[in-house]
Amino acid sequence: MTQAEPLIRNISDTALLAAVYRARETERQDALFRDPLASRLAGTRGDQIAESMPFSDRNTWAWVVRTYLYDQFIAEQCQQGVDMVVNLAAGLDSRPYRMSLPASLQWVEVDLPGILAYKEEILANEKPACALERVSLDLFDATARREVFAQLGRRATRSLIFTEGFLIYFSADQVRALAEDLAAPATFQRWILDLASPGLLRLLQKNMDPSLIQSGSSLKFGPEEGPEFFVPCGWKTIDVRSPLKTAARLKRLSFAMRLLSLLPASNGRQGSRPWSGICLLAKP
Ligand SMILES: C[S@@+](CC[C@H](N)C(=O)[O-])C[C@H]1O[C@@H](n2cnc3c(N)ncnc32)[C@H](O)[C@@H]1O
Repeated sequence: MTQAEPLIRNISDTALLAAVYRARETERQDALFRDPLASRLAGTRGDQIAESMPFSDRNTWAWVVRTYLYDQFIAEQCQQGVDMVVNLAAGLDSRPYRMSLPASLQWVEVDLPGILAYKEEILANEKPACALERVSLDLFDATARREVFAQLGRRATRSLIFTEGFLIYFSADQVRALAEDLAAPATFQRWILDLASPGLLRLLQKNMDPSLIQSGSSLKFGPEEGPEFFVPCGWKTIDVRSPLKTAARLKRLSFAMRLLSLLPASNGRQGSRPWSGICLLAKP
C-alpha cells in the first residue's frame, strides 16, 4: 500500500470486510456456518480494514445472521428445484464451495472485474460443488446488465437471484431500475434481498466509519414503503425473516439489543423504527 492509497479504496473493499466476519464466525465453537475459505479471501488487507474500525465488533451479529438467513433461504430454494442461482455483487462469497448443492446446479457470480480477478486467483485450485461461473459486470450499466440477464434467463427454467449486502449502497432510483430489469426474464422467479428501514439507515449512516464514506461506499437505500417498494417493479414479498429476532433466538445479542428484539414483529412501513429484514420476493 502506498502513502497515497487509502485502506478502503473503493466499494469492492467492503467485500473484504464481509469475508472477515465470515472468517471470525468460522473460528467459533458454536459457529452458525463454516466458511473455510473466508480467511484466505479476506487476507491481510481485510484484517487491516476490520482493525481500523474500532466499533466493527458491535455489529458482528448483524453480518453473521444475515449470512445465516441467506444460507437458509438458498438451501430451501435449491430443495424446491431452482436450477440456477445468480449471486449479484457476489464479492468474496464462497457458498458454491461450502454449501451442499446439487452438482447440476448452475451458479453465476456477478461483480466488478477487480474483485472477481482477486477472487479467481485465490480460489484457482478449489473445487466448487456445482457448475460455477463468474461474470464481470457493472450492475449499474443498464444496457450491459439487461443483456446478461436475458442470456441467463434463457439458460434456466427457474432461477434464484440474490443481492446480499448490496442494495443499501444505492439510491432508490438505481434500485428501482435494477428491480425492473430483474423482473423481465420469466425464469428469474425468486429474489432474496436485505432491506433496512429509514430509521435503521439513519442510525447506520450516523455510525458509519468515515473511511467507508470516503471510498464512495455511503449508505443510501432504506425505503419508506419497506418490502412493498418492490411491488411496482414487478415483485411481491412472500417471506420476511428478521435478523434481530433470529439473533435473539441464537443468543447473539447484547442485553440492550435483546430488549429491542422483544418489540412485536412487523414487516410493513417502519418509519423511524430501526428494522431490517431478509426478504424473499417472487413474481406476482
Ligand atoms: C458489501 S459487499 C457484499 C459482497 C457479498 N455479497 C457478501 O455478502 O459478502 C458489496 C459488493 O458489491 C459489489 N458492487 C458494488 N458496486 C457494484 C456494481 N456497480 N456492479 C457490480 N458489483 C458491485 C462490490 O464489488 C462488493 O463485492
